[in-house]
Amino acid sequence: MKGLITAGGRGTRMRPLTFSTNKHFIPLANRPLLFYAIEEMVKAGIKDIGINYNPGQLEEIKAVLGGGERWGAKFTYILQRRPLGLAHIIKVSRKFLGKERFVMHLGDNIFFPGIKSLVDEFRKNKRINALLVIIHHPENRRMGVPYFDKKGNLREVVEKPENPPHDWAVPGLYFFDHHALECFEGKGAISPSARGELEIVSVYNWLLNHGYKVAVKEFKGTWKDPGKFADWLTANQFLLDKLLEPKILSPVEETVQIEGRVRIGRQCQIENSLIRGPVIIGNRVRVKNSFIGPYSSIGDDCEIINAKIENSVLMEGVVVKNIPKPLDSCLIGKESVVEGNHHSLKTIGLFVGNQCVLKL
Ligand code: G1P
Repeated sequence: MKGLITAGGRGTRMRPLTFSTNKHFIPLANRPLLFYAIEEMVKAGIKDIGINYNPGQLEEIKAVLGGGERWGAKFTYILQRRPLGLAHIIKVSRKFLGKERFVMHLGDNIFFPGIKSLVDEFRKNKRINALLVIIHHPENRRMGVPYFDKKGNLREVVEKPENPPHDWAVPGLYFFDHHALECFEGKGAISPSARGELEIVSVYNWLLNHGYKVAVKEFKGTWKDPGKFADWLTANQFLLDKLLEPKILSPVEETVQIEGRVRIGRQCQIENSLIRGPVIIGNRVRVKNSFIGPYSSIGDDCEIINAKIENSVLMEGVVVKNIPKPLDSCLIGKESVVEGNHHSLKTIGLFVGNQCVLKL
């Protein structure tokens, strides 16, 4: 079985950060978002993975992911020239997929605690041509929604219906065999939707209409889709709660107080500060006269001096200095500098791109 992970897209909901960084490389709990999808696939035993990318992004993707060696996997990079939909990604991946069964995982989705049971199910059950994964979701009007007949059989899947009849929704995990590739060919080929995209739901509908067998299975874990700034911080909280393994890998002075689950990387210098977990701190981070509070992820090479930070994500190399009021709920891009010089500020919430300088 092969895997397909999406890593392109426009990233419009995460601007300004996505002007300079691919959304999939913004960190959650100090690891790029895309790593979660890759790890779940590899854990499920899928090592032959195609990853799609936008024009101009191959270099950045390769620099971060390499050829897949660090996961014991083999990556094939597949160019999607224009963002024409999720089904279009399958279309441009035809050569890579060949005749194999495959699972497609949206690179910005997180399935906790993993997708292995679904992969096993699809791998074992050769009688089905596709598997539609469903979850309960209160906001399924912005998602794909399955419609069932009176007997409970899947009839069709509708993209973003105005009035869904129930709260079932389709998250970003799709299973197909090679028959799915036939939906792009000939007279009955699927066509773009009103938003100009080849929709993933159309592939399922095409299979249903052509007599192929589509099974339906509920994913019973937690699904996260950290597409927007606020969702990013919630996903960061969730991952710190679930996955953080406390460990202190740098010498810590007596003037430092550590409470709760905290992970501190190598070669950090931490003085006269309080760190209250869950918190993850990367390597070579300097913290002085500061408070780092719950649900903060501090990237490598950050410097935090005379500041208070909580519920925030700081990417690599961020400098925060002399900010007397708490920085709360911030996402700050790489190598940005946030520096204060007066004391009249209340709390500060920031969503800052890469390499910015903010004087407060
Ligand atoms: C896409 C799919 C939709 C699915 C959703 C899951 O929506 O088209 O069927 O429910 O991903 O995240 P989009 O993100 O393009 O709005």
